[in-house]
Formats: sequence, C-alpha cells, structure tokens
Amino acid sequence: MAILKIARMGHPVLGRPAEPVNDPSAPEIRRLVQDMVETMRDAGGTGLAAPQVHVPKRVVIFTVEAERGGGAARDEGDEAAAEDDERGVPLTVLINPQILPLSDELNYGWEACLSVPGLAGQVPRHTAIRYSGFALDGRQIEREAQGFHARVVQHECDHLDGLLYPQRMTDLSTLVFTSEMKHLVESGEPVPPIEE
Ligand code: NI
Repeated sequence: MAILKIARMGHPVLGRPAEPVNDPSAPEIRRLVQDMVETMRDAGGTGLAAPQVHVPKRVVIFTVEAERGGGAARDEGDEAAAEDDERGVPLTVLINPQILPLSDELNYGWEACLSVPGLAGQVPRHTAIRYSGFALDGRQIEREAQGFHARVVQHECDHLDGLLYPQRMTDLSTLVFTSEMKHLVESGEPVPPIEE
C-alpha cells in the first residue's frame, strides 16, 4: 500500500478521458484501488478517481458518511434524498461506471475536490440517478442514488471524462476559498464544504 501523489487542476491527466478497464478483477487493479483508498483516507476525501493519482483508467472510489446533513442543496420534503444521506454509503469501488439520470431535475450543492485544493463551489447535478459498474471481484453493481450520494458519484465519474467541478459551474461567483466560507455562514447560508 502506498499514498499516491494527487494531480492538481492544470495537470493534463485530469483533462483527458480515461481508458476502460479490461479486467476489473486483475491484480494490478486491486493494488491500484488499495493505494487509492489509502490516499483518499490520508487526504480526508469523500471520493477519488484514478486520474487524480495519475492513472488514466476508469476507476472511482467513494464513501458517504451516514447522516451527512446539508451537503446537498435539496428541496424541502425530498425524502428519498434525505434517506440516502442519513443511511450513508459504505466504501464503494466502481470500475467502468455508467450513470443514467432518472429525471431532468437538477439541484445545486457545494463541492470541493482534492485536485482543486482550498476551493469550493456550487455545482448543479442531477438529483436522482441510476449508476452501474463493476466491483473488484468482477460482480456488477447497480444502484439508484439521490441527493449527496448522487452528487458524489457524478463528481467522481466526471473525472473519468476529464471534467473538474468548476467546468460544471454555472455561477462562478460561488467559487470561493474554503477558508472564506465562514462569511457565507455568517450570512446564513448552510455551507459544509465537501472534499472529494
Ligand atoms: Ni474531485
């Protein structure tokens, strides 16, 4: 196991589409994922995509803590999203993932990224998605996700297409240094930043 160096915005590996994995159960993919898990935990992240550690393959990992409130800007009464956020999602490895939006509905929420250190921004994402991919043992994973869970998956999978969250933002006035977010809190906005 090793802690890997994280690529930062501007490195070409973050701007290119990643290659599909031929054999999800190959030993080198298992080693890569072990290193990614160690790197993500060391950095305090919620998720990590292989291109972020300079490996242009379609592999992401993520986890969602239980009862993570407020991370997603969601409508009042959106019970499915609230439920997803309360339950949390165990550490998940997704190889060759695919995402299908379940509706056209978008919501805005704060995102941060280990490849864009020190910053956070409000990003529109699909509120509800279905996603699929392969686990390390080659089994197929298929899940539906709402709210913060759906946001994390969309953020990580964007890395596989060479996209960072600022490229998804529609209002760059909400791109801020996390060290200045206290001012937003003072103005009454709920703003727990997320690290991915
Ligand atoms: Ni990221």
